[in-house]
Amino acid sequence: MENPFKYGGLVRGPYFADRRTELNELKREMLNLNRVFLVSPRRFGKTCLLINLIERLERKAIACVYIDLNAYPDVKSFATALTGQSARALETNKDKLLKMFAGFQKLRPKVTVDQTGNISAGIELAVAEKDALSALLEGLQHAENLAAKKKKKLVVIIDEFSDLEKFNGQTVEKALRSEIQKHTHIGYIFSGSEQSVMLAMTRDRSRAFYKLGRIMELGPIAPKAYTSFIQKWLKKGGYAVNEEDLQRIFKIGNNVPYNIQRLCNVIWDAAMETKVIKPALIERLPVIVARQDSPHYEMLWRSASQSQKILLIALSQDQTAKPFSKEFQVSHGIGPSSSIKASLDSLLKKGILYKTLQGAYRFTDGFMPYWIDDILKTIR
Ligand SMILES: Nc1ncnc2c1ncn2[C@@H]1O[C@H](COP(=O)(O)OP(=O)(O)OP(=O)(O)O)[C@@H](O)[C@H]1O
Ligand SMILES: [Mg+2]
Repeated sequence: MENPFKYGGLVRGPYFADRRTELNELKREMLNLNRVFLVSPRRFGKTCLLINLIERLERKAIACVYIDLNAYPDVKSFATALTGQSARALETNKDKLLKMFAGFQKLRPKVTVDQTGNISAGIELAVAEKDALSALLEGLQHAENLAAKKKKKLVVIIDEFSDLEKFNGQTVEKALRSEIQKHTHIGYIFSGSEQSVMLAMTRDRSRAFYKLGRIMELGPIAPKAYTSFIQKWLKKGGYAVNEEDLQRIFKIGNNVPYNIQRLCNVIWDAAMETKVIKPALIERLPVIVARQDSPHYEMLWRSASQSQKILLIALSQDQTAKPFSKEFQVSHGIGPSSSIKASLDSLLKKGILYKTLQGAYRFTDGFMPYWIDDILKTIR
């Protein structure tokens, strides 16, 4: 039997744990064609949730478009993808699609014929980047009209939405808002992990997306349902585990779905022979994971300066610490605050740390502190 605890990529079908409440809520919002901003820290499962939502919506004959903003370096490529995908989601007839693309002002049709003679209809932008924004609006307007004509609902999901800032943000935001507001046949989900950016976009009165939709904060997977999911698979594989020991996994993984999947994946392999999951094994899990990812951590480590390394060591030993407090600085022999601030900024920029909404600094990857601890043990 293959390891059922998948991590890293998209998790679907029987390998996708729970999220029933969240799926139902998002489904309801999209059936009502509302606008939702989905926000959570990294690796909480936004993308997996959205992909599973699309499967459910398509079963209800709702057309869906999924765009990962990360994949599009400029407005031009974003406009092309969004327009092409929404037209294709609503119209499957190739001839009609080509005719439709030919009618665009700013975008032009691109027909490709593959080796087997299959024709595929695509579009590309006929204009320069400076006109890309009007092309984007044209594409959206067209999607709205087409959905109305087809009497269909369209759901547009834009993942990594906080990346919008990279497109000379505010102009694009304003234009998008005024277009989106007019739509009555399209529901929107904007999803992102840069919580502070997402919240500023929607809660700041001066910003274009202010109150354009509701904010849905995605939390951890419901513990009870997640526990039964894990237990169900372990039982299927013939493993024995005690409920209390399982709770320890949630604690070690800080309730982050990615971490928990990772820990369970290691359990499955580590206890393959004996099928017995002992507390001692559970305590060893994070170090096993950290060692598996060692090349990645080594690369991050090498990118840090000496004072950043000292700060990382201090933070790894004391994860709830306040780096600007006298107590922290004295006990770890670091400081002053100004140099700590510079180190923290640089570590945030490198993505090694992230700042919580409450202003605390945390490791982006929860297994990195275990790796640091592990290398220190081998050095000492
Ligand atoms: N419901 C779930 N069932 C099983 N595993 C899950 C679930 N949700 C998330 N995961 C695990 O967490 C990993 C990360 O999920 P995902 O990529 O969806 O998170 P994300 O919030 O989109 O992260 P990012 O902000 O980095 O894009 C998945 O690869 C998977 O291992
Ligand atoms: Mg994601």
